[in-house]
Amino acid sequence: TSVAERVRAVIEAHKGDRGALLPILHGIQAEFGYVDPEVVPVLANELNMSRADVHGVITFYSDFRSEPAGTTTVKLCRAEACQSVGAEQLVADAEQVFGVKLGQTTPDGSVTLGQVFCLGNCALGPAAQINGRMYGRMDRSRLVELLVRAEG
Ligand code: FES
Repeated sequence: TSVAERVRAVIEAHKGDRGALLPILHGIQAEFGYVDPEVVPVLANELNMSRADVHGVITFYSDFRSEPAGTTTVKLCRAEACQSVGAEQLVADAEQVFGVKLGQTTPDGSVTLGQVFCLGNCALGPAAQINGRMYGRMDRSRLVELLVRAEG
């Protein structure tokens, strides 16, 4: 099946719903791993919305990404408890180690850097989630190790 057919199938599954855009966007991200900017005009057309509105919803919700995620997804906790034990420094370290800003993916597609607000692991902050697994007491050297592994 072509990309267009897969997009259409997701739209058809939700079209009748109230506020169909969000479930459709979630469906598209589940299907493709991200919401390609090319589907924006298709959705706008199908749902009788402006492209700007569709785009606005995609950018409002940080869940949606507009490009494929890296092989490894690193999410750093920036909520209060982790901030009090150096989460902001860790974010700065991570941006330096990976060479990207929060929300971005390294050019080689190995790592996507993101943020979360409390993983329920506050006692072991700074907390991080790497490909869905929880890590405590994250620090710069562990991020470097991770990068080496991601590249190897
Ligand atoms: Fe970071 Fe709770 S504040 S895990």
